[in-house]
Amino acid sequence: MTLWKGRLGDGMAEEVAAVSVSVGFDIVLAEDDIAGSRAHVQGLGKSGIISTEEVQSLLAALDRVAAELAEGTLRPGPGDEDVHTLVERRVTALAGDVGAKLHTGRSRNDQVATDLRLWCRRSLLKVASDAVELQDVLLRRAREAGDAYLPGYTHLQRAQPVLLGHHLLAHGWALARDVDRLVATIDRLDVSPLGAGALAGSSLPLDPDYVAGVLGFSARFENSLDAVADRDFVAEALFDVALLGVHLSRMGEEIVLWSSDEWDFCVLDDAYATGSSMLPQKKNPDVAELARGKCGRLIGHLTGLLVTLKGLPLAYNRDLQEDKEPLFDSVAQVRLTLRALAGLYATLEWQHDRMQEAADGPSGAAVDLAELLVVNGMPFRQAHELVGGIVRESVARHVPLVELVQSHPDLGDAAAQLLEPGVPVTRRTTPGGAGPAAVAEQLERFSRRLDVDRTRIARHGGGAGAPVAETVAE
Ligand code: ARG
Repeated sequence: MTLWKGRLGDGMAEEVAAVSVSVGFDIVLAEDDIAGSRAHVQGLGKSGIISTEEVQSLLAALDRVAAELAEGTLRPGPGDEDVHTLVERRVTALAGDVGAKLHTGRSRNDQVATDLRLWCRRSLLKVASDAVELQDVLLRRAREAGDAYLPGYTHLQRAQPVLLGHHLLAHGWALARDVDRLVATIDRLDVSPLGAGALAGSSLPLDPDYVAGVLGFSARFENSLDAVADRDFVAEALFDVALLGVHLSRMGEEIVLWSSDEWDFCVLDDAYATGSSMLPQKKNPDVAELARGKCGRLIGHLTGLLVTLKGLPLAYNRDLQEDKEPLFDSVAQVRLTLRALAGLYATLEWQHDRMQEAADGPSGAAVDLAELLVVNGMPFRQAHELVGGIVRESVARHVPLVELVQSHPDLGDAAAQLLEPGVPVTRRTTPGGAGPAAVAEQLERFSRRLDVDRTRIARHGGGAGAPVAETVAE
């Protein structure tokens, strides 16, 4: 279907068609394009631009197109440049002459911006919902972990023991911020561009507020130029997904380390591990590595779009078509990763003995010794120096720390007891800290937060359990 027969001759060069056709990927917008077209038709009817009968036949044709797309009987043809052309071509074939009225007062510029906002709204909810599923796995594993502990690290050096549950929930809270950001992005993009036309609105009595309401948007655009030129919501979506990807990458990196022979803190379930084509003994953490690897791609998509946007004069420019593939790909890839990591974490076997052995080194209690001295009245700097000196002596003279502590006049037996395996972690009692009582409270707070986020997602229209394929371009 050619959209500009009047002005230009028929013969679009083959190369032009090849470089500009987008239906191969924007077909995922079909559901949103039909929703947008339905609202537009209703708006045309309400304003008296088309008759009630014309509204009915256009809506019936749009329903038929939706059904044909769902059945797979309607497929893009050679002349269908994009999803908008495909839908309009088929509506015109089904509805006859009235089909020619569908595009009245509308441009593909406000149409595509509308479609994309609708797509983002439903797809970001799916991402948020997949993220909540992963958080749920972390919560379950954190609860099960009970009193198990491992070394907490700074600078990748053992620092202080922490409960395994505390460590797992650290990732959970990062994901909670991701969910919050995704929902906030959805709230911000909740503005309808429909009625902005090509760039300036219309001479016809269109009602952008009405169509915004039909589409479930909270508001209509304030400025028609901005409405068709704005892709902030795509950039935000790509940022949210990229930062979520960064969190998943850090989790992946950790599993790569922890499942290595050097750490040996966990064993991968066979179903979530891969083998080597050459080395028979290998069991590789490819899922965790892909979580790390895909993150580069997600960051690249965000950067790419920002660069695309930075030089664009107002209002619509065809460059904006380049927003879609990165967006669709980022959403699909992050959803695949979230689901694979959820399975990986659900099935990991923890090596509690290895973790505890690594955490039980006496220097993990060094700050507890210093804090004991503080409780007994010594200024912290002095206590820090005193304990640091004892640790240094223990290392230099190869004398067990516990012996030096026992024989020290300011420390003695009570202090030596702090070095017992499993004791230091119990002393992290402050709110949000790594010890058992604080973590028990944290588990409750985290669980409540998940319930709140599930409700927020449901209130925005769901997203749970949707297959990833729905957000992947075919
Ligand atoms: N496929 C185009 C896009 O994604 C649709 C809008 C085309 N508009 C135009 N005036 N050429 O941006």
